[in-house]
Amino acid sequence: MPRFCPDHGQLFRNRIKEGLSTIRKEYLDGTNRGCKNGPGPGMSERPYYHDFAWAYDLLQTDPIAPRVDFIEGVLRAQGIHADSAILDGGCGTGRYTIELARRGYHVYGVDRSKELLAVAKDRALHTAVHVEFLVADLLVVAFTRQFEAVLCRGVLNDLVEESDRAAVFRQFAAWLRPGGIVIFDVREWPRTVVRYKKNSVHRRTVELPDGRLKFQSETTLDLESRRMRIRERFTVSRNNRETSKANDFVMQCWTLEEIRERLVTAGFDEMGVYPSYGEDDRAWSDRLVLVACRQSV
Ligand SMILES: C[S@@+](CC[C@H](N)C(=O)[O-])C[C@H]1O[C@@H](n2cnc3c(N)ncnc32)[C@H](O)[C@@H]1O
Repeated sequence: MPRFCPDHGQLFRNRIKEGLSTIRKEYLDGTNRGCKNGPGPGMSERPYYHDFAWAYDLLQTDPIAPRVDFIEGVLRAQGIHADSAILDGGCGTGRYTIELARRGYHVYGVDRSKELLAVAKDRALHTAVHVEFLVADLLVVAFTRQFEAVLCRGVLNDLVEESDRAAVFRQFAAWLRPGGIVIFDVREWPRTVVRYKKNSVHRRTVELPDGRLKFQSETTLDLESRRMRIRERFTVSRNNRETSKANDFVMQCWTLEEIRERLVTAGFDEMGVYPSYGEDDRAWSDRLVLVACRQSV
């Protein structure tokens, strides 16, 4: 398998910078198709990614260091060391982007939610690490240069259209150099069924400096389409006043067969399938973590 050549590191990074500025220019010019925004027919924008982006990190509190240890182990095993260029596709509030940057990688975070990216940028500023962030849709964004690795954590279930589910794997291949790797996770359908048949309601309460946030999600499974219909409600209490926002959205689970088919079609070799991001990660009952390598032509 081809390895990253450290001698070419600076040249490679300069090229990626050129690539990003090309993209920015295209967005400004309107010559790039830009964000394929919008939640799709019959759905509304998920407040978690927009109005309640400020609450994302308060509600998602799984420790990420053990996951990044696993990711780093995978990268190292492929000869992808600190200084290499990594794309965090669907980076959200930048939890993984910034931890990877802290460990010395040159990380580029892309997400279509400008509200989540605002949180990420603020976090990067406070952590004093350099990360390039870009508001863009993963399904259409193009770079003029390639990356050593792509991370796509917790994103692929948001893609429900068949065409989008195929396109994202083509995008992984387009962003990666031959021999580069993609690390991603999905909700796997058979185990999702087991999980949500047991318990379809998830609740959390978080104390805020000036009040309280209550979050509830209720999931219904559509057995035919392998879709999860999720109703989320955010309730904020401040100064004896309560405001509430509810929203319905759809996610689509994956089967291992479907992923394998899409990897092969897009020109990847599967390298590993795991139930979590390593032994030190909190085990998920319904996810799969996959590592695949872009074939060298
Ligand atoms: C569950 S969050 C995961 C965020 C981050 N990777 C993490 O683990 O903290 C899913 C993210 O994917 C982003 N996303 C979903 N579809 C996208 C698309 N087509 N293009 C860009 N970002 C997308 C959402 O905006 C959101 O930030």
